[in-house]
Amino acid sequence: MCGIVGYFGKEPVEDILIKKLKLLEYRGYDSAGIAVKNSTSLKVTKAVGEISNLKAKVKPLNSAYLGIGHTRWATHGKPITTNAHPHLSTDKCWAVVHNGIIENYEILREDLIDKGHHFLSHTDTEVIAKLLEQTFANLPGDDSCDKYLTALVNTCNALDGSFALGVINKKADCVLFAKNNSPLYVAVNNGEFMMASDPTCFIGFSQSYFALCDGDFGMMTKSCLTFCDKNLNKIEKTPVELNLVYSGDTNDFNHFMLKEIYDSRRVIDNIIELYSKKETLSGFTKETFKRITNIKIIGCGSSYNAAVIGAKMMQERLGIDCSAYVASEFRYSPPTFGKNTMAIFVSQSGETADVLAALNLAKARGALTVSVVNVEHSALSKSTDLTMPLKAGMEIAVASTKAYVGAVVVLYVLALKFDSLIRKTGFDLQQLSTLKDLLQIEKEPEYQPIARLLSKADKLMMLGRGYDYYTALEACIKIVGTSYTSATPYFAGELKHGPLALVSKGTYVIAFATDNDILTKTLANAEETAARGAKLILCTPIELPKEQASRFVHIIKVNKIDGPLQTVLNIIPWQIIAYYMSLYKGNNPDRPRNLAKSVTVE
Ligand code: F6R
Repeated sequence: MCGIVGYFGKEPVEDILIKKLKLLEYRGYDSAGIAVKNSTSLKVTKAVGEISNLKAKVKPLNSAYLGIGHTRWATHGKPITTNAHPHLSTDKCWAVVHNGIIENYEILREDLIDKGHHFLSHTDTEVIAKLLEQTFANLPGDDSCDKYLTALVNTCNALDGSFALGVINKKADCVLFAKNNSPLYVAVNNGEFMMASDPTCFIGFSQSYFALCDGDFGMMTKSCLTFCDKNLNKIEKTPVELNLVYSGDTNDFNHFMLKEIYDSRRVIDNIIELYSKKETLSGFTKETFKRITNIKIIGCGSSYNAAVIGAKMMQERLGIDCSAYVASEFRYSPPTFGKNTMAIFVSQSGETADVLAALNLAKARGALTVSVVNVEHSALSKSTDLTMPLKAGMEIAVASTKAYVGAVVVLYVLALKFDSLIRKTGFDLQQLSTLKDLLQIEKEPEYQPIARLLSKADKLMMLGRGYDYYTALEACIKIVGTSYTSATPYFAGELKHGPLALVSKGTYVIAFATDNDILTKTLANAEETAARGAKLILCTPIELPKEQASRFVHIIKVNKIDGPLQTVLNIIPWQIIAYYMSLYKGNNPDRPRNLAKSVTVE
């Protein structure tokens, strides 16, 4: 949520900031802005909407050599130009970009208003700019870069909440930065310095970068990069090798979402390759798991939907108590758990605020923590006892597709591993190769008419039992998030206990019935909705008798695989349908309204 960037160097600063903001656009895209400085002036440009709007507005400032930029996902205040970052101090000398939430901003704001400051925006961030001005004015000594850094540290010490900050001042030859609970990275390249919310920005700029920790501050000046702590003590940081591949090209696809659905096969290959190597899971030993009597799997959104599948497959396979939790619930209404718990955190970004907070709770309780995560440099990946990468590559479309597939598959690998340690069963990933061969992504043209039909519906109801219900959960979140059509999952057996009242003539009901044992039960539930006027769509690998099949408007015939990996085969058509529904409704599937790829606030 929100992306920030900063640059001090020799290149035309506006070009660099805009280019890097484009890479960060996945973090928020309701408005954007930059502040740049030369030896005499500070210039701010802002625009509502995507980075391209900002680019069209920017007129370079002569000899500007440093600057900061921001792409916003609104938390406080509407997405209008006034609320776009950077925000300025009352004397218009300080400019601030911020990712995070300042929880005590209202108290600070009132105090600053009493002291004569004027606020233009509805954001929490503007208090930081005003507070910097106030704090700096009260500091003794000459106006050196160190004094500006001191003002930033003192200001941040008064803030409650989360922040990654980029700060410049019209009179100072430095870019200042600070981090607390929001990601921030810094890189150096031969006299040029850059900071960004995502190290992807450093590809082509530097071979390594510094990962800031919570409580780190610093500044880039003409000659050096300095880090310090909240007491202004200088700190040394060790650079990390930049080991990222940029996959920001849609190739021949019109959108990232479709391209990423097609990437699923490669994701499975990557998982097979990584987890077939003995050393990959060398940290997962019998000794590590000896104390584990229960497993909690935690995530948000699609990652939670993968977690429920993981919990069910582990429960079935291992015979121990396994459950899944939405991270925001886990942290505030935690179940009973402790040292005997393995807490598994599932996240594509590894930055999700609620997931990180849940992780802190699990650590405090002494649980063994494991991350199942796509972004390997993320806070989540770095903070758990053990980590299992998804190897999905960059996922750019906001709606998760290949990373969801990766999460289900990696949880399956973990279940196999755990089982092999407890019961000395073999650890054989053969079924993953079969899974890969059975994916039916190329059936895309067959799914388009279904998407067209459903794009005209007001609401969709999805039914399933067991794993099929979990597929319905994920299918719904995909459809809701990209096409803005209301889609609700129901346990098929629960229909009669309330939801059936929603069915009227023409309501589309989608039934997932992929398990032969409960096929007839789910089909009977679907029939009950048809009896009340519903139009039925079925997703199944099972061939129905002609008469029975004729009752469905469409049957999506998926391939069959034994066990929980069936969920992967079942979701692919619905990822594609969600993509096309979004297109048919005139939306941008890659950038759904109101959403962002990385949810770094609660
Ligand atoms: C839905 C979607 C979101 C994310 C959720 C968690 O398509 O993408 O629901 O799954 O915001 O994000 P991560 O996995 O980054 O923790």
